[in-house]
Amino acid sequence: MITETSKSSALGLDVGTSRIVAARRADQDVQYDIQLNAFVSIPYSKMTENVLSKEGIPHAVEGNEIVVHGNESERFADLLKKETRRTMARGILNKDEPDSVKLIQAITTSLAGRAEKGQKLCFTVPAARLGAEEDLTYHEATLREILSGLGYEVESINEGLAVVYGELESTNYTGIGISCGGGLCNVCFAYLSVPILSFSIPKAGDFIDASAASVMGERANRVRILKEQSFYLNGHFEDKFKQVVGVYYDDMIQSLVTALGSAFQRGRNMPKLSKPIPLVLSGGSAMPKGFRDRFEKILRESEFPVELSEIRMAADPLTATAKGALVAALSDM
Ligand SMILES: Nc1ncnc2c1ncn2[C@@H]1O[C@H](COP(=O)(O)OP(=O)(O)OP(=O)(O)O)[C@@H](O)[C@H]1O
Ligand SMILES: [Mg+2]
Repeated sequence: MITETSKSSALGLDVGTSRIVAARRADQDVQYDIQLNAFVSIPYSKMTENVLSKEGIPHAVEGNEIVVHGNESERFADLLKKETRRTMARGILNKDEPDSVKLIQAITTSLAGRAEKGQKLCFTVPAARLGAEEDLTYHEATLREILSGLGYEVESINEGLAVVYGELESTNYTGIGISCGGGLCNVCFAYLSVPILSFSIPKAGDFIDASAASVMGERANRVRILKEQSFYLNGHFEDKFKQVVGVYYDDMIQSLVTALGSAFQRGRNMPKLSKPIPLVLSGGSAMPKGFRDRFEKILRESEFPVELSEIRMAADPLTATAKGALVAALSDM
């Protein structure tokens, strides 16, 4: 039996390459908790450990090092002129990071906490890359194991579909949801809440950071910090940094539009649509000012075969997928 408590405390968890976001219902609102999905090792001292504990910064002591994870890892890495280490790459567990499972467990546990009896949790998983039979099984099964281990009744939702659930109630969940994240851009077209077509492309924020960093001889972590603070798209390049980042932004948008075109052209079993459908953009990489306009311009220049009623930004691009995962967890009860 599901009690009112477990119902109101259902959890949506967006497990992203870049950030993990937990969404919970709080009265009529949704409350979000966010941590960077990254970590960094700093030299151990008793003093540092005390300060981190006092400040409530998630960390673990390992021998003569302290592993700081979550939001503060980026700043520490920058101060120490290092890259952060990452539990995920391109949407799934990072096979080049030996501690990926242990650390993603630490970060998800700090955000989700232990479950109450019968508490539901729905987490996001990426779609396979367009045209590739990718193996997402290991990633999904490992997260399921970690989250069931906390006592939750666990289910998963495709990331693009989560955008549709979070944003398109007004069209009864018909439309295209896109999340431009750190590791991937995820796309899902849903018809009356049924996912008809979904895919991902492996170009997103990390690709932009790494490519721009290599052109500029910088660290990717530094590019990322500057990009989030000051980058916008307006067609003019005021300085070298904006010009370089702009080039890779265009590359990402162009690849996304090309993939959309070929996926929809090749999509079989497409329902005959009686009216134009909306397209919603979300994800951290959709945040810079001018992104929506640039995307629309490039899409309109392509021969996209579906008639769109609007192209709009999600209400909050950084939390749209977590909200959709919460909607899925609640609707299941
Ligand atoms: N204000 C901003 N301007 C530009 N980029 C931003 C901004 N805020 C976040 N980003 C970028 O968004 C990306 C993270 O987005 P998001 O949190 O949606 O990804 P994710 O869900 O963790 O990853 P994925 O879905 O690909 O697995 C990072 O590359 C980050 O640098
Ligand atoms: Mg994401």
